[in-house]
Amino acid sequence: MQEKFSLIKSGAQKEVELVQTTRELNDLKVKYLGKSGEITALLRGMKDIPAEKRSEFGKMVNDLKVEVGEIFDQKESKLKEKELQEKFEKEAIDITLPGKKPKTGNLHPINIVKNEIINAFSGMGFEIFEGPEIETDYYCFQALNIPKDHPARDMQDTFYIDEDIVLRSQTSTGQIRVMEKKQPPIKILSPGRVYRSDDDASHSPMFHQCEGLVVDKGISLCDLQGLLDEFVKLVFDKQTKTRLRPSYFPFTEPSVEVDVTCSKCHGKGCSLCKGTGWIEILGAGIVNKKVLENCGIDSNEYSGLAFGLGIERVTMIKYGITDIRTLFENNVKFLKQFDRR
Ligand code: PHE
Repeated sequence: MQEKFSLIKSGAQKEVELVQTTRELNDLKVKYLGKSGEITALLRGMKDIPAEKRSEFGKMVNDLKVEVGEIFDQKESKLKEKELQEKFEKEAIDITLPGKKPKTGNLHPINIVKNEIINAFSGMGFEIFEGPEIETDYYCFQALNIPKDHPARDMQDTFYIDEDIVLRSQTSTGQIRVMEKKQPPIKILSPGRVYRSDDDASHSPMFHQCEGLVVDKGISLCDLQGLLDEFVKLVFDKQTKTRLRPSYFPFTEPSVEVDVTCSKCHGKGCSLCKGTGWIEILGAGIVNKKVLENCGIDSNEYSGLAFGLGIERVTMIKYGITDIRTLFENNVKFLKQFDRR
């Protein structure tokens, strides 16, 4: 009997040693200690043992049960530790790997350039004024010396909401809105969207302008050129020069068209400036006396300069963009080139 017990114990020991996982160990435990296991079978056989040997036999079976149980317990804690270790190794995170950058947007080139223009003029003491995009015919045309049915309206045909309400075709509307409310000295910059019924590689039905207006005593064309010279150096580069050419706008007299030296060839002549070395960037002039009077400003005491520049135009010159439509297609590959981070 003793021998049989030892065999069971050493059998368990050997089998337990070969086990690799807790699951296998549990299966094996059932074989020895489960309901129909070998050791339980011994206990069941108690009834066939003569009464006087029964208690000794019972004690021996119990001892065996405890010993075999310990073999299993020891193995179980070893296996658990090993399995935990393996789990840790498998799930380990390499904290030295670079993280994934979340995708973020960036400013649209038009907004980048708009901010640069605003910064340049704010630095020269200009205040920002933003007028409405839906305007009356009066603010958009009549007050700017463009009467109804006047041929000068052809220069900027826009979208009419009704007879008297239009989508503004120019930010020059800002001149009137400011001068009506404020007496000189005035120094404002009015950025915003404008609309015209135009659509080709260099014109868009919606685009952005920045209007500048300075009204004070003794303002002249020299002030205008000085101001613009300073501005182009800030927005393009230090070598950029301006030149004024005579032009016509109903709300300025005299009127000029302002060119800058080409940002690509610096005046030598290239494809961007069509060989001339110069690129037109804005319209400007000395505020027409009639416009000052329309706003209740004494034109004998005060004079003013005004200029209106297209933000798309400055953006295109600055970055060598040849088709204005690329600015509105929202092609992410194009826009990402302006990500400055
Ligand atoms: N408003 C004019 C345009 O859109 C530009 C301009 C502004 C010209 C101010 C003279 C003075 O073409």
